[in-house]
Amino acid sequence: MPKVVIAGNWKMHKTQREALEFLQDFKSHLEETPDDREVVLCAPFTALAVLSKTLHGGRIRLGAQNVHWEKSGAYTGEISSDMLTEIGVHYVVIGHSERRQYFGETDETVNLRVISAQKQGLTPIICVGESKAQRDAGETEKVIIKQIQGGLVNVDPKNLVIAYEPIWAIGTGETCESEEANRVIGLIRQQLDNPEVTIQYGGSVKPDNIDEIMAQSQINGALVGGASLDPAVFARIVNYR
Ligand code: 13P
Repeated sequence: MPKVVIAGNWKMHKTQREALEFLQDFKSHLEETPDDREVVLCAPFTALAVLSKTLHGGRIRLGAQNVHWEKSGAYTGEISSDMLTEIGVHYVVIGHSERRQYFGETDETVNLRVISAQKQGLTPIICVGESKAQRDAGETEKVIIKQIQGGLVNVDPKNLVIAYEPIWAIGTGETCESEEANRVIGLIRQQLDNPEVTIQYGGSVKPDNIDEIMAQSQINGALVGGASLDPAVFARIVNYR
């Protein structure tokens, strides 16, 4: 069975102080969390080091939200994989639809980032998903397969997580029906060389839909945006039944 990974993607939210306040509260809820699942916080770059120091290892893993493919160089504003592993980061979100939409991310740059992250021992969380217009045009399968095939060229199938995030379900409160998410995730799995890859669902995950999402046969976790910002709310998601 693939490992279950529940990750919070904070996006551009929380200063260091706010991140530490979150952690203090969130940790108290984790005592009830079964150890069959990995809990990841994908925080802004500026909060990662202080979170890492406070966590001292422990069961919460840290994730970044982007990484550059070069080790170092004249790339103003970028962060490399070894800068992340040095401060105790284990995961990195790559190819989120917001990066594809606002920052020119393509399947090719996703692929470069994934390969570099894996080389450094980071686990990439690769995001794929169709827009509303693509879904309405019956192109969901085509779009997803293209993103998977383009993003995963020469990638190690033993160290990656995929997040299926239909764009129309992100931040809208409109969740993809869990059976439909399960169907698309099953299709993604068929594209992979390794049946043990963790595949998450993301898009308006909340305490009131997580149990149903996690009951689906193909879904091994969640990538949670808005609902990961509140410690009690995210703890309820992590403690899904
Ligand atoms: P929401 O959970 O806010 O819909 O965001 C999903 C997301 O984009 C996680 O990466």
